[in-house]
Amino acid sequence: MKTQPKKKTYSFLGYLIFFFTIAVLVTTAVAIFVVVNRESDGNTTLIAVTMFFAIVFLSLLCTLIDVLRRKIMIDAPVRKILEATERIAAGDFSVRLESDHSYEKYDDYDLIMENLNIMAAELKKSEILKSDFVSNVSHELKTPLSIIQSYATLLNKEGLDEQSRKKYAQTVLGATKRLSDLVTNILKLNKLENQQLSPETEEIRLDEMLAQTVLGFEDLIEAKSLELDCDFDEITLVSCPSYLEIVWNNLVSNAIKFTERGGKLRVSVKKENGNAVVKVSDTGCGISPETGRRIFDKFYQGDTSHSSEGNGLGLALVKKVIDVLGGEISVSSELGKGSTFTIVLKGG
Ligand SMILES: Nc1ncnc2c1ncn2[C@@H]1O[C@H](COP(=O)(O)OP(=O)(O)OP(=O)(O)O)[C@@H](O)[C@H]1O
Ligand SMILES: [Mg+2]
Repeated sequence: MKTQPKKKTYSFLGYLIFFFTIAVLVTTAVAIFVVVNRESDGNTTLIAVTMFFAIVFLSLLCTLIDVLRRKIMIDAPVRKILEATERIAAGDFSVRLESDHSYEKYDDYDLIMENLNIMAAELKKSEILKSDFVSNVSHELKTPLSIIQSYATLLNKEGLDEQSRKKYAQTVLGATKRLSDLVTNILKLNKLENQQLSPETEEIRLDEMLAQTVLGFEDLIEAKSLELDCDFDEITLVSCPSYLEIVWNNLVSNAIKFTERGGKLRVSVKKENGNAVVKVSDTGCGISPETGRRIFDKFYQGDTSHSSEGNGLGLALVKKVIDVLGGEISVSSELGKGSTFTIVLKGG
């Protein structure tokens, strides 16, 4: 957004016109009085009548000049603004107002127009976000729902052998988990964005919390034969445990998901300059610079080979939580070599 310029000459010009009109009016009235007084040989009635008509005429002239000034300086921009607000009120957010002045000479009306342009652009943006969100959610709902539908149909068949029955039921369960994760994540994100979920802080042993998170993924780590390396400093800090849980769970689950069998996973927490620095690293597929720019966007999934596992909401949630907690998150990665997510929390 541009910084607002200081109000310049335009309103000053308005005062100047007003001042000169009054000055010319008074001077002309005095001049007429002098001339009439000299020519009328002291006839006071003639002087009074002439002066009356002269002043009526000059006042009319003055009013005319003021009407013109208002038409150009006030009515024109006000009408422009009024038409724009009417279009916005009717739902047309494509409205853009152009000022007749250069930026340095902006007056209050130009600033109102500029603010209206910003408002309309923001409304347009949130309208696009809303419709994108709806189409993303519908898309994410469709895939697991069609899996459930087709596998439930298979389960319904007569004479199914035990092995197939188990396989189909497992697939249905997987799809329902995906659906419930989606709904849970959307609700959490929504609450965070609307500030309905305020952090409840308490003293936390960060190292113990991270150990607990890693332990929760033990089965998955073993199933993929990942080499796990943990390096935890003893760190106590005041923060919101349920918020931090979202962060660690998403980062560790991503590290596991995007790393091939036999890869390495490293989780560490260190004290640095009075902060707690948590790093979650993997030797997985890595993130390209282009993907890296969008990983925190809602529903963005860079790696299409894993798109069936998740909805692309994990890192959007992580970013939101870190923002609310006043921390920092960054990622460094090399395609094909692995990634490191670094979180800095104040007061370690
Ligand atoms: N450790 C990682 N290694 C490689 N790519 C990653 C890693 N973490 C995230 N990404 C990329 O960032 C994208 C967004 O991650 P995010 O956690 O938001 O979504 P997701 O894991 O695909 O789905 P969800 O988190 O909803 O289950 C991923 O799809 C992937 O492309
Ligand atoms: Mg994820």
